[in-house]
Amino acid sequence: MKILVLGSGGREHAIVRALLRDPSVREVHAAPGNAGIALDVPVHAVDATDATTVTDWRELGADLVVVGPEAPLAAGVSDALRAAGLTVFGPSRAAAELEASKSFAKDVMAQAGVPTAAAHSCATEEEAAAALDEFGAPYVVKDDGLAAGKGVVVTSDRGQALAHARACFAAGGTVVIEEYLDGPEVSLFVLSDGTNAVPLAPAQDFKRIGDGDTGPNTGGMGAYSPLDWLPGDFVEEVMEQVARPVIATMADRGTPFSGVLYCGLALTARGIRVIEFNVRFGDPETQAVLARLRTPLGRLLMDAATGRLAGLRELDWSEKHAVDVVIAAEGYPEAPVKGGALTGVEAAEALDGVSVLHAGTGTGPDGGLVAAGGRVLAVVGLGESLAAARARAYEGVGLISLPGSRHRTDIALKAELGQITVPAGEVR
Ligand code: AMP
Ligand code: GLY
Repeated sequence: MKILVLGSGGREHAIVRALLRDPSVREVHAAPGNAGIALDVPVHAVDATDATTVTDWRELGADLVVVGPEAPLAAGVSDALRAAGLTVFGPSRAAAELEASKSFAKDVMAQAGVPTAAAHSCATEEEAAAALDEFGAPYVVKDDGLAAGKGVVVTSDRGQALAHARACFAAGGTVVIEEYLDGPEVSLFVLSDGTNAVPLAPAQDFKRIGDGDTGPNTGGMGAYSPLDWLPGDFVEEVMEQVARPVIATMADRGTPFSGVLYCGLALTARGIRVIEFNVRFGDPETQAVLARLRTPLGRLLMDAATGRLAGLRELDWSEKHAVDVVIAAEGYPEAPVKGGALTGVEAAEALDGVSVLHAGTGTGPDGGLVAAGGRVLAVVGLGESLAAARARAYEGVGLISLPGSRHRTDIALKAELGQITVPAGEVR
């Protein structure tokens, strides 16, 4: 198979590497890719969010196009590619509304009977103030559109919550204000061909910029998988309560969901609750999850794209643990500084059990690697235990230098120390 991957982040680099491990994949291309992806496969300088340039991709003769990020999906790129006769892994624009609109997702969840936080959509400051007072602190205010993980403010400061709502209104948007969900978070990726659903291994992401979950939300600062602290029936519970009902409801509405449904979940004392859906693989969870996947990825994504997930055998996973740590540019997430020189990547990759996946990287005037985005790299460690995987990832991080860069030092630490508690109560 020849496969084209659209996107330029760490998630896409992880997908490219996993596709290259699939013996049935003959060739992988990426568009636009990044400096690291370009070291592994041919890259093409096209705007991945521009549905009108699909003919360029048709000429490549790809058997499958994998759409990585949400922006092209929300822009209808997968519809345009399908209309041009290509086979695509990624939902239609209509199905991508599950991520692009938080109020749409709430409607679908209500219709499907899926447990989620109680919420109100608000269009004015008066409505927002009333919703904040109804739910009380901590306050959760979400921009009702795509915001790269940065449109959500969780705070106990009512003034700050209202200010975020006001800023969203001023930008012409609306907000969703919802009840605060207490408990550990889990990301579960579920492949769907529109009808059938196959779960990958659960992962945990670290959304805040600072150690100890402090500071603003980011796109994600690190992740690990598997999650040994989860109840044994967790994945089946999510499939039964969340994924299958949502996939069935989307099909009933005439907008079947095909691609990967990212279920962002909280394990609360009252059971599993959906925090959000995304319609693509998570970043940086994918870097950890795919590092352990032994089932060939190309075949799997092709089966999802062509309605052939029924009867698939269980996926095959390495027994190893994977941890990835994101190195972000100075100033991330507010105002990332671009152009800083990046060194030590090769030395880190030479370590046993360590791989370095590129996100915001580019090539500087002297041909060396430079930071070209907020999240620059994800350093992945694989090990026999979570502690070993963490140690490897951080050993790799220690060899890499980028002036002013930041990373969290506590990715997967609580899990390693056995400090994650699943709230007592019925997981239902
Ligand atoms: P979202 O973009 O909806 O995933 O939100 C980003 C992050 O904000 C989540 O990963 C959570 O850490 C946090 N968050 C979102 N909604 C809630 C909620 N209802 N209760 C607690 N935390 C939340
Ligand atoms: N890791 C969060 C996301 O991909 O949205």
